Amino acid sequence: MSKVQVQHVSRPHRFGFKGCDIAESTMIWHPDNVNLYGCTIGGDCSIAFGVEIGRGVVIGDRVRIGSQAFIPQGVIVEDDVFIGPGVTFCNDKYPPSGETWKEGPSTVVKRGAAIGARAVILPGITIGQGALVGAGAVVTRDVPAGMQVVGNPARVQGPKKTFAGLYNDVPEEM
Ligand SMILES: CC(C)(COP(=O)(O)OP(=O)(O)OC[C@H]1O[C@@H](n2cnc3c(N)ncnc32)[C@H](O)[C@@H]1OP(=O)(O)O)[C@@H](O)C(=O)NCCC(=O)NCCS
Repeated sequence: MSKVQVQHVSRPHRFGFKGCDIAESTMIWHPDNVNLYGCTIGGDCSIAFGVEIGRGVVIGDRVRIGSQAFIPQGVIVEDDVFIGPGVTFCNDKYPPSGETWKEGPSTVVKRGAAIGARAVILPGITIGQGALVGAGAVVTRDVPAGMQVVGNPARVQGPKKTFAGLYNDVPEEM
């Protein structure tokens, strides 16, 4: 059993987060409404209501994950990343692949990147260090470090505007 802290608990650890490795300082705000399957989550993270994280996913330290975010197998999230509410990572380019599905290259979100609300990230993408994905973007190509992308398909708008300090603080509540 992990030693993760839980808040607003109605059925604490009833679902066990079996096979997960979660640092003690990470907060899971509604553990009975969060699905975590065999993933690794670092310290001082915040996981909001309705988040699902798949098998083998690795999440770094000080990562904030907004409500209803979907992070399936094949995703690596480095330290100090912000994942907005409703963000969806895809790991099956030609669904439904069923039994023929093979894990492809990982999607990697590099340190300090931020992904806006309800963005969709296609498989095998790298989101560069400190990059910003605008709300509702559909990311079909790698995002260069420090750049801001918007739209469907997402295109570079220019250098990322600063959200100073946002990534380093774990909020009291999401
Ligand atoms: C991408 C973003 C950072 C752009 O902010 P900005 O650099 O200040 O840009 P502006 O608001 O000046 O808009 C510049 C242009 O981009 C467009 N734009 C802004 N955000 C957009 C988005 N998410 N998708 C598509 N176009 C967008 C604007 O319509 C504007 O276009 P125009 O010049 O044709 O009118 C911001 O709009 C955004 O999406 N932030 C993420 C918010 C979020 O999801 N937070 C999560 C926690 S709630």
